[in-house]
Amino acid sequence: MSVVIRAVGSALPARAVPNDDLPAALETSDQWIKSRTGIAQRYIAAEDETTSSLAIAAARSALDSARLTAADIDGIIVATTTPDLTFPAVATMVQRELGAPAGTLAFDLQAVCAGFIYAVGAADGLLQTGRMRRAIVIGSETMTRILNWEDRTTCVLFGDGAGAVIMERDDSLDALTGANPRGLIDLQMNADGNLIDILHTTGGPSSTQSVGHLYMAGKEVFRHAVEKMSGAVLQLLDAHGFTPDDVKWYVPHQANQRILAAVAARIGAPPERFISTVASHANTSAASVPLALHELEQSGELQRGDLMVMAGLGGGLAWGATLLRW
Ligand code: UT7
Repeated sequence: MSVVIRAVGSALPARAVPNDDLPAALETSDQWIKSRTGIAQRYIAAEDETTSSLAIAAARSALDSARLTAADIDGIIVATTTPDLTFPAVATMVQRELGAPAGTLAFDLQAVCAGFIYAVGAADGLLQTGRMRRAIVIGSETMTRILNWEDRTTCVLFGDGAGAVIMERDDSLDALTGANPRGLIDLQMNADGNLIDILHTTGGPSSTQSVGHLYMAGKEVFRHAVEKMSGAVLQLLDAHGFTPDDVKWYVPHQANQRILAAVAARIGAPPERFISTVASHANTSAASVPLALHELEQSGELQRGDLMVMAGLGGGLAWGATLLRW
């Protein structure tokens, strides 16, 4: 039995905003943003574009790519920190718009920028136990809605978007053995609540009855991102007797080009195997990994059976990684 990713899709807001178009009052520059982060632009959702509308578009794109319809799925998991409403779950909005059957399992999961990794982990468990057979797993965010647009140390870093994968259980496959090994080999999901203070929002329904704004102590988060993502990846590889060189593609969370370079150096992997979309998407939190995965898939370079790693870290701190054969 193997759990495989059958197809990928994504969706971005219509409007891309280059660094030079950010408000002049921010006292920032294209040169600072590019040199410190690699970000050249971000997509910013218009008023009528929401986390659910982006999630629905990404889900449709993944279903089309898999040549499936909503009737073929029995699970919807949305990783998001920026839901349309406090409740119900964005996943139920996706279910309604797609017309997925009433018995479909649908819920949201919140692990901020590690959300997609956690959602893949949750889907893997539910698929393995037979609670569902085929699911749409989505990372969708409108992070620009919770930014403090007067804080130049954070507001230049984030963007909006969504990515989705179709995950299914295939009883005829194995991820490690057989003629054509394929599927999820292993994954890690970690958290350290002692680090809440360095990345959080300043409000929430139960404390301030408002969503608050994003706060980040950038330098500290940077250090943890490098240390924890590379640590998780190395542990996963080691547990299964792989070396960093065996991995064809690294699809990490897209927060900062310097983080990607530092993780590649610490792992000892060729940086060109690290997929980077940070220049065009900026940091889209839970959407960044599936958006980057879709870009890799669209490039035509991803081959069946390729060994691949996905990894992410975000508020909590929460972090994780997956090891799979495509
Ligand atoms: O998705 C969750 C995970 N998030 C991350 O992994 C992000 C991790 N952190 C980072 O990517 C980086 O730490 C940042 C991009 C946030 C900041 O880069 P940095 O190299 O750590 O810069 P810094 O915070 O040390 O700031 C350096 C200087 C400061 O000026 P002084 O104090 O040296 O005079 C800042 O005030 O740059 C200044 N600065 C800016 N200048 C122009 C900070 N933001 C800006 C800005 N434009 N937007």
